Amino acid sequence: MKKSILMLGLAAFMFVSCGDKKKEEVKKEVETKVEKVEEVAKEVVADTGAAVEAGKKLFTEKGCVACHQETVKIVGPSVKDIAAKYVAEKGNMVKFLKGEAPAIVDTDVAQVAIMKANLDGFVKDLNDDQLASLAAYMSSVK
Ligand code: HEC
Repeated sequence: MKKSILMLGLAAFMFVSCGDKKKEEVKKEVETKVEKVEEVAKEVVADTGAAVEAGKKLFTEKGCVACHQETVKIVGPSVKDIAAKYVAEKGNMVKFLKGEAPAIVDTDVAQVAIMKANLDGFVKDLNDDQLASLAAYMSSVK
């Protein structure tokens, strides 16, 4: 009788400590996963930063700045206004630049024609990465 109580006690002890071990393992696993997610998030932020930088450079090099200033409207709408409209309307800037989506910021026919001349001209020669970085830069202007 005494022996069986002892065995029972031992079994209970082992059960509890096994449970603890399992908890530790799960906790470790979760912590490792969280670390991985944090690493990926850091990479994404770094990538976005790099894209914004590249886009800003292209925006000057390709002459977009001639018609688009960051905060004031000159020939075309300001970058800030374009960014705000694309957020509000959930628009796709890359698609617009590829000529696959209509203008949503300034829909005045004459204005659209001015921008369309750029799209048909040199914008069509930009690759997907360049278009994505232009969009990343423009979207970053607040
Ligand atoms: C000759 C002047 C001119 C140049 C250069 C120019 N744009 Fe524009 N852009 C305009 C005008 C005008 C509009 C307003 C019409 C419109 O919204 O489509 C416009 C509108 C836009 C819009 C908003 C489109 C929408 O949904 O209404 C984006 C995005 C844009 N331009 C990006 C660019 C980029 C990127 C470049 C350089 C590669 C560029 N533009 C060069 C005149 C220009």
